[in-house]
Amino acid sequence: MSILEMRGITKRFPGVVALSDVNLAVRAGEIHAICGENGAGKSTLMKVLSGVYPHGDYEGAIHFEGGERHFKGIHDSEEAGIIIIHQELALVPLLSIAENIFLGNEPANALGVIDWFAAYAKTQELLKKVGLNEKPGTLITDIGVGKQQLVEIAKALSKKVKLLILDEPTASLNETDSDKLLNLLMGLREQGITCIIISHKLNEISKVADSITVIRDGSTVRSFDCRTETISEDQIIQAMVGREMADRYPKRDENRKVGETVFEIRDWKVYHPEHTDRLFIKGVNLHAKRGEIVGISGLMGAGRTELAMSIFGRSWGRKITGEVLIDGKPADVSTIQKAVDLGLAYVTEDRKGYGLVLGNDIRANSTLANLEGVSSAGVIDEGKEFSVATAFRGKLRIRCSSVNQQVVNLSGGNQQKVVLAKWLFANPEVLILDEPTRGIDVGAKFEIYSLMAELAASGKCVVMISSEMPELLGMCDRIYVMNEGRFVGEFTGAEASQEKIMRSIVTAGGQ
Ligand SMILES: Nc1ncnc2c1ncn2[C@@H]1O[C@H](COP(=O)(O)OP(=O)(O)OP(=O)(O)O)[C@@H](O)[C@H]1O
Ligand SMILES: [Mg+2]
Repeated sequence: MSILEMRGITKRFPGVVALSDVNLAVRAGEIHAICGENGAGKSTLMKVLSGVYPHGDYEGAIHFEGGERHFKGIHDSEEAGIIIIHQELALVPLLSIAENIFLGNEPANALGVIDWFAAYAKTQELLKKVGLNEKPGTLITDIGVGKQQLVEIAKALSKKVKLLILDEPTASLNETDSDKLLNLLMGLREQGITCIIISHKLNEISKVADSITVIRDGSTVRSFDCRTETISEDQIIQAMVGREMADRYPKRDENRKVGETVFEIRDWKVYHPEHTDRLFIKGVNLHAKRGEIVGISGLMGAGRTELAMSIFGRSWGRKITGEVLIDGKPADVSTIQKAVDLGLAYVTEDRKGYGLVLGNDIRANSTLANLEGVSSAGVIDEGKEFSVATAFRGKLRIRCSSVNQQVVNLSGGNQQKVVLAKWLFANPEVLILDEPTRGIDVGAKFEIYSLMAELAASGKCVVMISSEMPELLGMCDRIYVMNEGRFVGEFTGAEASQEKIMRSIVTAGGQ
């Protein structure tokens, strides 16, 4: 029996029809996956369901537990037992776990005073349910994203959830944390809680989903029932992109040659910015040649992002020592501007924090790192800017009404593509990519891989940090393995395997 039916949902934004006559039926007690390309309308559909876009703001009907519902806001849908965990987590970093769980919902005693003793006890119970071994008083900022996701779920459980919606919950989690989360969802299913999950990680969908709805360009294109038939990843992909995708990775020239070393790091040491006596990056040596795609693999917390940031304009860390060489010459990359001028670019995994000016349009964001490239006599030429941004929009398949659209209104994956456009336009000699395909759909991933291969083929060098081992193995000529602030292994693309990489991490950890 269906617990939820969304019928004929249409949702418009100025100039965009984000959803057009979408239908969704979810059975009670199942895990229902929603798949679709970036900008297909997945998050919007869930925002309609949870009252973020209230009744009257969309066309169509929502039936939940047998009756039609007219949610006026998120509070209404929560009352009904529908809880959404958004794509961008919404916890307050400087408050404790308990405070976050009970924010706006604090248990009060007879005098109306918040009963923190009760809140802590309840938090402890909830944390146990989600398998999180932390104290209620621990600050959110002191735990990783994996644990923060679990806190979000604990918070949902504190509200008597019937239908739990998770929008890309594992996008920034490593494999272990993702597994933990998926197991927890399967546990909740046992208890009769219905769940809707949005994810671009199709292997996860295959693992947990009982049914799948695929959305393309704002319309429902297919539903699969995984209980009655076995659904392959290729079938899902085909429904998502509307064509068959033969390969996940572009073919690279078999006879490609690598050139001279263009980028080198020698004995790079960095101390932690707050715990200043803690050596965090412990003497890293790296080199990369023209034409090469070099990967850096490692577990979450290995120090890969910190390494890249400390190099790129010393954006992270203290007491930095060591040498950076570009084309064999010592390079001063001590500010971001200097690094960019020397041909270095760093595409960050954190698009909100460092990558984009959200209040600006796609056009201005795409050209931000190379204003000279769109200026005549020192003045920005808007026409040029427009054509550059439009070209990238085509190349990366950025889904938007026009490049004059503000990036804040783009879907998560499309924002990531704008960050990439910005740094590609800077035309760097060395491009460091940090989790470049996080939250990106399979089709667009292929486009990004193709651009990386093109860059390398044109004699540039690409350094890719990634937690997704298959993409490192699929794309890299050479892979470094990082663990606890040092490089503990190095493999050529041909000899590398998931197992060898994991083994070098484990052996290093045991020393
Ligand atoms: N507030 C808004 N104003 C204008 N357009 C919007 C707004 N929110 C979403 N859109 C547009 O609606 C479409 C659907 O966006 P949505 O965020 O639902 O995509 P998605 O399927 O969740 O994609 P992703 O996988 O990248 O997260 C996109 O074209 C997006 O640009
Ligand atoms: Mg989304």
